[in-house]
Amino acid sequence: MFISDSPEGTTAAGAACARGSNKGDVIALTGDLGAGKTQFVKGFVAELRSNDQVTSPTFTLIHEYSGGRLPVYHFDFYRLESADEVARLGFDEYLFGDGVCIIEWADRFPELLPVGTRWISLEVQTESARAIRGLEHA
Ligand SMILES: Nc1ncnc2c1ncn2[C@@H]1O[C@H](COP(=O)(O)OP(=O)(O)OP(=O)(O)O)[C@@H](O)[C@H]1O
Ligand SMILES: [Mg+2]
Repeated sequence: MFISDSPEGTTAAGAACARGSNKGDVIALTGDLGAGKTQFVKGFVAELRSNDQVTSPTFTLIHEYSGGRLPVYHFDFYRLESADEVARLGFDEYLFGDGVCIIEWADRFPELLPVGTRWISLEVQTESARAIRGLEHA
């Protein structure tokens, strides 16, 4: 377990995760509202040298960041109603795409995630501290 004591600490954890990532990887993020999942993705995308701005894909299924070492496909399952809906939006094609998939609220539809998915959980401890688990296998 890693304790991140600032938003920057969580971005750094995302960057570390990206350094070990390769085409086809799937990273599943879990944790409550405000746990730092989007913050983690910011570090992840920046490490891959994409200059694209990271925002929460709350109102669209996916944000795609290109121009870096690997394309990043960023999903947020929070507002999606069913696994069927996700599938209809073409989720599988991203899993088999040329980049890495990183998914907020992945535990809403765990059945959609392939074997070998890396699960990373973020847990609020105090206003500024987050416990991040699952980074160890990078
Ligand atoms: N150690 C920390 N790590 C990450 N974020 C932190 C930390 N301490 C404070 N914060 C604050 O917590 C918030 C985390 O927001 P973020 O959007 O990353 O959460 P999220 O998990 O993506 O939430 P949501 O479920 O709404 O998508 C930010 O406002 C950030 O500044
Ligand atoms: Mg978020």
